[in-house]
Amino acid sequence: MTRSAPAQPETAIATDEFLRDVEHGLTCPSQKYVPSQYLYDAVGSALFEVITLLPEYGLTRADERLLEASADTVPDYFDTTPVVAELGSGSGTKTRRVLSAFGGAGPGLYYPIDISVTALERCTSELGATEGLIVEPLACSYLDGLRRVVDRTADGQPLLVLFLGSTIGNFDRPHAGEFLSRIRETLRARDVLILGTDLEKPVADLLRAYDDAAGVTAAFNLNLLCRINRELDGEFDLSRFAHAARWNASERRIEMHLESLEHQSVRIGRADRVVDFERGETIWTESSHKFDREEVADMGRRAGFSCVAQWTDPEWPFAESVFLAD
Ligand code: AVJ
Repeated sequence: MTRSAPAQPETAIATDEFLRDVEHGLTCPSQKYVPSQYLYDAVGSALFEVITLLPEYGLTRADERLLEASADTVPDYFDTTPVVAELGSGSGTKTRRVLSAFGGAGPGLYYPIDISVTALERCTSELGATEGLIVEPLACSYLDGLRRVVDRTADGQPLLVLFLGSTIGNFDRPHAGEFLSRIRETLRARDVLILGTDLEKPVADLLRAYDDAAGVTAAFNLNLLCRINRELDGEFDLSRFAHAARWNASERRIEMHLESLEHQSVRIGRADRVVDFERGETIWTESSHKFDREEVADMGRRAGFSCVAQWTDPEWPFAESVFLAD
């Protein structure tokens, strides 16, 4: 790294949106929540990188192993080398493996798409030096970014879209299906989507993965309160909240919460408001849905794709589905 990570909010507009979303979520009468995208500021993104190294968190290693083992088959789905777009600009390692599978010059153009400028910078610095590869980062929502990519891509030039790491697990199930349909509508016939999804596994394994012994996931979650303190003049006392990872059996997802350890009132300066917490009341900060491999294939088919391959990891159940736009 040649530059230090920004301690500043990414843009003034981003701060206004953050304020609006925090106010809305923390005044929700049924269950307080903050959208999970806000976990990933510079500190949160760095903590997530550490999570991927934890022995308890097998997800990222499974994703990497599967791409390592099977990326060589990806070019078979194309007549000509595709342009590559990635939703959620990953760490670079997995992407590099897919790009190099095309051999020779490989894809000439790669569009990482992410609302987080921090994530895009990391990805650009990791892949930017690749011979013959032009990296065009798009700082916007996934669907807006994908639309822009398709607009810039000639008819007949195929597109490979990567949506790895089970990021889709952040959406609730109806939204995940809806999101795949929107992706399909944006793509052209014969474009390919590779979708990574974490699969169901013993609940004890999942609880360990989201509440690790070293407390990294707890720090990742609690950093959200630090961020509110920093950017929105919040007055959260972190010692009065605890990280909680819960398995929601009916929704088949891990939920991360921040649990108030006592009855308390917290002022948020920029909102000019005080938020009350009961003892034991929580702020819901993230969902990580766990899937069944048939369910993923069905979800793709309902969105207008054929599921042409599915690779799964035996050590840490995880699936990479290759979807061809019909
Ligand atoms: C990046 C959304 C896939 O849900 O497993 C890891 C985020 N949260 N530990 C996940 C996360 C807590 C991760 N995703």
